[in-house]
Amino acid sequence: MSRPIAILGGTGPAGTGLALRWARAGETIIIGSRSDERAQEAASKIRQRAGSDARVSGTANAAACAATDLLALTIPFEGQVGLLKELKPSFQPGSILIDATVPLAAAVGGRASRTLGVWQGSAAQQTAELVPKGVKVVAAFQNCSADSLNGDDPVECDVIVCSDDPEATQLVCRLAAQIPGLRAIDGGKLENARLVEQLTALLVGLNIRHKGHGGIRITGLPASAYRSLG
Ligand SMILES: NC(=O)c1ccc[n+]([C@@H]2O[C@H](COP(=O)([O-])OP(=O)(O)OC[C@H]3O[C@@H](n4cnc5c(N)ncnc54)[C@H](OP(=O)(O)O)[C@@H]3O)[C@@H](O)[C@H]2O)c1
Repeated sequence: MSRPIAILGGTGPAGTGLALRWARAGETIIIGSRSDERAQEAASKIRQRAGSDARVSGTANAAACAATDLLALTIPFEGQVGLLKELKPSFQPGSILIDATVPLAAAVGGRASRTLGVWQGSAAQQTAELVPKGVKVVAAFQNCSADSLNGDDPVECDVIVCSDDPEATQLVCRLAAQIPGLRAIDGGKLENARLVEQLTALLVGLNIRHKGHGGIRITGLPASAYRSLG
């Protein structure tokens, strides 16, 4: 991509995993955090793992958000409304925001293998309601295990990419396909994020039961439906 990718809340396992894989693919990454120091610490660890050429920096979420028009959101559901309200003035017009949030019941002290009802239909649709007009929300990566992303092996998972903007969907499909093992599939409109988010709770339960880092694979579509490294 010609522009940097800012990962808001990028200090947790989901954010660092994506950052590591994209940095290895040659992308420029800005890790965002509520704390400058934590962001810089996480960025430094990712640089150490991604190689000496890796371009990874860290800063506060608002500065990361203002620095580019390509963003990813990797924070727990309980922080989503507060952070997006705080960041509203920082978005560049027309930005693309990739949302990996899953409304796990753990957000209110419940089980991570259950989800919460979200009035808008999904966490991603809630995000779309909270960002400034014109910001394109793309739901993706909810089913990818952060443990796998943070490893060195190919990530055995399909990424279902949902958005109301077909160009933004294609861009995120290309980004996902840069990660070895991942296959991106255009999943249609943003409202389909509701179904994709629910699968994560199932995966959490399966991973607890079977002690693994399971993902999903969609079979039987024509080859043209899958975008991957090949
Ligand atoms: N872990 C996985 O395998 C996985 C897979 C797919 C999708 N997801 C989804 O991706 C999101 C992030 O997952 P994660 O496991 O990386 O989460 P996490 O470790 O709990 O949180 C990620 C980062 O979010 C920031 N944060 C935490 N609470 C916050 C709040 N109330 N307000 C603002 N920022 C807050 C923290 O960064 P600072 O303290 O540095 O600000 C934290 O390091 C979740 O919605 C999760 O459901 C996770």
